[in-house]
Amino acid sequence: MRVLITGGAGYIGSHTVLEVLAAGHDAVIADDFSNARPAVVDRLEELAGRPIEVHRIDVTDEAATDTLFADGRFDAVIHFAGFKAVGESVAEPLNYYRNNLDSALTVLRAMDAHGVRRFVFSSSATVYGENPVLERTEDMPTSATNPYGWTKVMIEQMLRDLAVADDTWRIAVLRYFNPVGAHRSGRIGEDPSGLPNNLMPFVAQVAVGRRERLSVFGDDYDTVDGTGVRDYIHVDDLASGHVAALERLGEITEPWSVWNLGSGEPVSVLQLVNAFSRASGRPIPYDVVARRPGDLPAYWADPSKANAELGWRATRTVDDMCADTWRWQSQNPDGYPA
Ligand code: UFG
Repeated sequence: MRVLITGGAGYIGSHTVLEVLAAGHDAVIADDFSNARPAVVDRLEELAGRPIEVHRIDVTDEAATDTLFADGRFDAVIHFAGFKAVGESVAEPLNYYRNNLDSALTVLRAMDAHGVRRFVFSSSATVYGENPVLERTEDMPTSATNPYGWTKVMIEQMLRDLAVADDTWRIAVLRYFNPVGAHRSGRIGEDPSGLPNNLMPFVAQVAVGRRERLSVFGDDYDTVDGTGVRDYIHVDDLASGHVAALERLGEITEPWSVWNLGSGEPVSVLQLVNAFSRASGRPIPYDVVARRPGDLPAYWADPSKANAELGWRATRTVDDMCADTWRWQSQNPDGYPA
């Protein structure tokens, strides 16, 4: 298959490009590089040992996206392109709704016009919202607590409606839990601009000396040690989940499918911090501060549907996630070269 990967220069996108190529498909990147560095492409070509076709476009641009599809002969699309910072989405809801909804709509309309029917969507476990059942299953109702999350819920709804209207589509909605880690080479990884919003990149920057101390957002939750509990998944396991979904779409008759991509293992903030300290051999100084508004105490995936239907499972441990993040962070203390 010739697979268009929107947002393919980003953190999850770049790791997925390598998995798609490794599975024997061709990967074409479309990225506007608003939150990715051009150096990613050099690293990907070095790791893949071959040139990679890259289009520097904003997929909310209808004319540019249509031209891309007119020339592209794509068999499938994996759609990552979008804004993803929860706090920023609360401050700038209009930008989030416009960018995330527009990019999905523009890509889907171009696919429709050019007869491309296989679509893998980058969704999030955030669509489970608050639910007293902490182990999330795909049949739970969806909702959100911030504009970023609502864009995922809304795009999922658009995809359901599209599948009802035209059953020649083959759509996979992948709900990610907490992606962390980096490619085992240490050449590509997560490179957030500014202050990291998420736990793992923050911990890695403390370990490497770029930040002084971690703030742990609350230690009075009803969890194993009082800190927040999540399901961390190695980004390369996540990437191979995309390939499994992409290939599965060629075998099934349902136009719409949803799969959780998580490890199924609950891990607390302090458990992750301790694992990182062991992996890096560095202390991670931290202060316990107030809870972060909007955070849920704990949730994790029931990944059994993806395990059974995709023949996929997360294989890398929390120690692997920390070791690989540390290799990336210690070899690239300031991220990608500008
Ligand atoms: N945390 C800290 N200190 C930090 C950052 C995070 O203690 O500096 C804690 C949080 O309170 C939480 C845990 O670490 O308990 C994980 O927080 P992250 O910010 O890494 O991840 P979230 O679970 O909040 O959110 C992530 C993505 C969202 C996505 C969601 C889906 O950032 O985009 O997972 O489950 F929607």
